[in-house]
Amino acid sequence: MFPQGKTFLTSIIADCEFFEPIAAVQRDARDRLLAERLRPDRSRDYSIASEYPLVLGSEGTRHSICVAPRDDALEARAIVAHANLWLRTMISNSHSDGMGQIKLALVGNVATGTQAQGKGWMRKLLTEIERRARSQGADAIVLWSDLTDFYQKMGFVPAGNELRIMLSVPKLSQLDRPTVWTPEGYQTGKLPHDLMHRMLELRALGFKQPFFQLERSIHEFSELLKIPDLALFVGHSPAKKGIDAAMGHHDRSIDFYFIIGKGADMQGVIHEWGTTDMNLLLGGAGAIAQCGGLEEIMILVPPTIEEARSTFLHQASTSIEGHAMAWVKPLSPESKHLVDRALLNGFIWGLDSI
Ligand SMILES: CC(C)(COP(=O)(O)OP(=O)(O)OC[C@H]1O[C@@H](n2cnc3c(N)ncnc32)[C@H](O)[C@@H]1OP(=O)(O)O)[C@@H](O)C(=O)NCCC(=O)NCCS
Repeated sequence: MFPQGKTFLTSIIADCEFFEPIAAVQRDARDRLLAERLRPDRSRDYSIASEYPLVLGSEGTRHSICVAPRDDALEARAIVAHANLWLRTMISNSHSDGMGQIKLALVGNVATGTQAQGKGWMRKLLTEIERRARSQGADAIVLWSDLTDFYQKMGFVPAGNELRIMLSVPKLSQLDRPTVWTPEGYQTGKLPHDLMHRMLELRALGFKQPFFQLERSIHEFSELLKIPDLALFVGHSPAKKGIDAAMGHHDRSIDFYFIIGKGADMQGVIHEWGTTDMNLLLGGAGAIAQCGGLEEIMILVPPTIEEARSTFLHQASTSIEGHAMAWVKPLSPESKHLVDRALLNGFIWGLDSI
């Protein structure tokens, strides 16, 4: 007798084809589907692919998985559903930590065409994604969504934590004002590497150890910074003003940075930041929010932030909400413990969530 599970698996994958959209015409069809389902208000004048350069851009084709009914001829394949799959490493910055890293399969841009909805396409695609994630050695699948019922049905559970802290701009404006500026060239991928290294260094400071984050190369960072409607600010302590006047802004001398917005997502939200001193960051955020005429600004914060830093945040806040960070599906009972530990002791910054 053929085992029942296997018969089922064969039948659900038999009627469709999974493919990467290598041809420009396939990528256009995919982008139309994604825009229709994920950007229905059509309020943006840029493409959805520009919002996800690493997974929807032409060099990200291998991360993009389209589904078409198997009986369609190759050239006429109608894409009925899509999702990205991108394998990332989450790593602890503590060398003394015994288990330094886990592999996470990040999933995003999950959508089924309007006409194809409710026919089981996404269940099939998520089954295929799970198969690929396992074969690539992933410990878990991770994604971000408000579709609680759907993802629970697909076997995902909430994991990790993030604090969404609303900062009062009048309270921030009482703090010392650091020197803050927008570095030239980040929108075209021309930021000095030294500056990007410094930012990656800063975002690891001030959290309880071990602190886990997704590894990000300089190339990936500079591609992510090109996302439209993304604002990058860097700055340093007012005490360095003299040095500045003599030498101009120096890339490695920045004390903090923060990023607001990311395409259609997280507008008005500081979703990635790093600093040597919380008060400098808050003073810089206050200055920028005030220039933008805002009364409040939200910052996303890893809950494992050191106590002294969280006191400053509390003093400047009007509300603090705790939320799960992402939806997760561990891929084996053994990996579940490691994944929970890394996500509870770490953070996936907004720029890394696809
Ligand atoms: C959510 C979405 C991806 C589901 O795709 P789909 O191909 O219609 O889903 P399927 O037909 O494979 O459904 C699988 C199961 O989930 C259920 N389901 C589908 N959509 C659901 C929803 N919104 N809420 C709860 N359950 C849902 C189905 O009833 C089905 O259950 P069953 O197998 O027990 O009968 C699709 O509706 C969509 O593209 N929505 C708009 C874009 C979006 O919100 N994407 C998610 C962003 S992360």
